[in-house]
Amino acid sequence: MRRPMVAGNWKMHGTRASVVELTQGLGNLSLPSGVEVAVFPPSLFINQVIDGLEGKGISVGAQNSAVLPEQGALTGEVAPSQLAEVGCKYVLVGHSERRQVIGESDEVLNQKFAAAQQSGLTPVLCIGETLAEREAGETLEVVGRQLSSVIDVFGIKAFANAVIAYEPVWAIGTGLTASPQQAQDVHAAIRKQLAAKDAEVAEGVQLLYGGSVKAANAAELFGMPDIDGGLIGGASLNADEFGAICRAAGN
Ligand code: 13P
Repeated sequence: MRRPMVAGNWKMHGTRASVVELTQGLGNLSLPSGVEVAVFPPSLFINQVIDGLEGKGISVGAQNSAVLPEQGALTGEVAPSQLAEVGCKYVLVGHSERRQVIGESDEVLNQKFAAAQQSGLTPVLCIGETLAEREAGETLEVVGRQLSSVIDVFGIKAFANAVIAYEPVWAIGTGLTASPQQAQDVHAAIRKQLAAKDAEVAEGVQLLYGGSVKAANAAELFGMPDIDGGLIGGASLNADEFGAICRAAGN
């Protein structure tokens, strides 16, 4: 059985004061015990959030990490080993905002994926199509290619310690959510692609859906057989809303 997971990606949001408030709100939630809950603050606030959530059963991850595993001369970057050392468990790799706005290529993302695993972090690989790609009927091809770019280099076993988040770009921050069936269709295709190489890895990997998930639509999405939880943006900035989404994953 795969453990459901709900992850909150805070993106580039937060001040010292708002992070204190959000962290306290999260700490006061009563969370379902069977759900892995994680938050991904801006790196500036990671230590503050780890301290604030101590003993609360919520994991912390980073939104990005360096292409090299160990600390060293790489100005402006944070090494995955540094993130692991302060207590991070996960790191996002390949969020569409980084692919599109920063211009991160599959090659760079592969380096980040490998460096994260070498440092003991679990990468959360984000994949998804744009609206133009969906309208052109290329969704499964695009998502399949993004997944293959990792499998082809590191092999299928790399997904024994990774999470995959399917985030259609057109659903991110737009209020447009993929319907449960649309999301399920892509998740099933992802799992099938993995199963063609290794059935056990495919059965075990958590596939999260991301894109305008909120408390009101979470239960329906998480009820689909290949959707194991969510990667939540805007709604993760409100502790009560996020808590309701976590509970939806527990039912
Ligand atoms: P929203 O939930 O704000 O649409 O963002 C989704 C996302 O990009 C999470 O990584």
